[in-house]
Amino acid sequence: MNEKIYITTPIYYANGSPHIGHFLTTTIADVLARYYRNICGKENVYFTTGLDEHGTTVEVAAKKEGYEDYLEYTNTRALEWQKAFDDTTISYDYFVRTTNNTHERVAQEFIKKMVKNGDIYKAKYKGKYCYGCEKFLTLSDLNEQGLCPLHRADQVIEIEEDNYFFNLDKYAPIIEQKIIDNEIKIYPETKRHAILSRIALGIKEGLSISRPKEKVSWGTPFPDDDGQTIYVWVEALINYISSLEINNKNAFWDGKVIHILGKDINWFHNFIWPSFLLSAGYKLYTETFVHDFLNVEGQKISKSLGNVITPKQLSDRYGIDGARYLILANLPYKNDSNVLHELLDTKFNADLANGLGNLVARITKLVEKSAIKIRLEDLSAYWTNDSLDWEFKLQLKLDYEAFRLDLVLAHIWEKIATLDKYINEQEPWKVSDKEKLTQILNVAINELYRIAIVIEPIMPNTSKKILDIIKAESIQHKVILFERV
Ligand code: MSP
Repeated sequence: MNEKIYITTPIYYANGSPHIGHFLTTTIADVLARYYRNICGKENVYFTTGLDEHGTTVEVAAKKEGYEDYLEYTNTRALEWQKAFDDTTISYDYFVRTTNNTHERVAQEFIKKMVKNGDIYKAKYKGKYCYGCEKFLTLSDLNEQGLCPLHRADQVIEIEEDNYFFNLDKYAPIIEQKIIDNEIKIYPETKRHAILSRIALGIKEGLSISRPKEKVSWGTPFPDDDGQTIYVWVEALINYISSLEINNKNAFWDGKVIHILGKDINWFHNFIWPSFLLSAGYKLYTETFVHDFLNVEGQKISKSLGNVITPKQLSDRYGIDGARYLILANLPYKNDSNVLHELLDTKFNADLANGLGNLVARITKLVEKSAIKIRLEDLSAYWTNDSLDWEFKLQLKLDYEAFRLDLVLAHIWEKIATLDKYINEQEPWKVSDKEKLTQILNVAINELYRIAIVIEPIMPNTSKKILDIIKAESIQHKVILFERV
């Protein structure tokens, strides 16, 4: 039996609309989910994304938009995000919403297990809290001015309140060892190192895991204490467990569990989350890919700077698959990457309109004109049949396993360039010998067939279009895959 693979994105705050940063994380997860479905079978992959609907950030946004009923507000947001992901063919198996009743129950039960294990105590929190991050700021979170490096000064307030705390240093040695032994794999190495060096500094404070209800009412009640709600980050992390429970997919937690996230929430995922899991008696996830950030025209993506790009804007200009391709071509693998409007156009024209699109047009035109009958190879088991392209597939496997989607693109585009070169060298338009021509065009179409298969995780719609063209009774050149911009 094949191994089960569970792939997650962070759940995004339901206080705004999706932008290309969120689209990036979700697309990475989608591409991986599609790849693993090909390799391990559809039934062995489970992919979730969704919304983090509780907490002050959401409450404030709802009020600002005139909603008294916050659930009504998050219902609207959920539809918006789901549509954005549907419109870009994100193949999630479950769309998470933390207002789901079962999620709330699972979060409470999870905390009860931590209480039972003696890891929770009540104390006073006094310090800074950032509403932008929904986070209690420790010294290491602050910049030189004593502010949150990610949010406006007015989003950071001093608070003093009674909270339940989690004994954060208890599991630190175990987690450290598991990261060192690669039992928890963190990609890339710089993000693994970031966690190890922060653990090495020592964990000096406990972590607040609740808020007083009179301050944060929009949340899940803390178990056995009506006066407190569960700190939003705690229940958010537990979504990774509750989503499986809600859908009767618990077996996926025993397989490979891959969390995809941005660098801003590395500590939450690779230190706090495993601490919770150990405390509540769960097995740990197996790996995380922590990407850097996309900036736009050299600046942090922000509403106030007016440089936000939405997935819809991208797909309106470049098509769905164009949007997916361009976002991955800008993958901030271990440094931030800078999205420049002009370069998006250039890249689109070069790689898609002139590259793949033009190649498909050239070959199908030649076949149509020659009226040659093509014999398609049987590639129906392409991904699983070792005798087909094993070397190339091994390369892709290594790329995928290391989350190097930039290299996946590079290796596939090498294949495209090689086929282009083959056509140029063979000059089929000059070949009059029918047998020779048949041979050249058969090679070309079958290679195109392979390309259509291997681009599926990245560009599922284009893959299907190419397959439809080459599998048709007679191959015709009629569809323009990518219109130049
Ligand atoms: N709700 C929490 C996550 C809880 S997960 C248990 C949260 N939400 S968020 O809406 O702020 O989304 C954060 C994630 O969005 C980042 O970790 C990253 O994956 C993605 N990105 C947001 N802005 C981004 C960029 N500018 N660039 C790339 N990804 C970014 O944090």
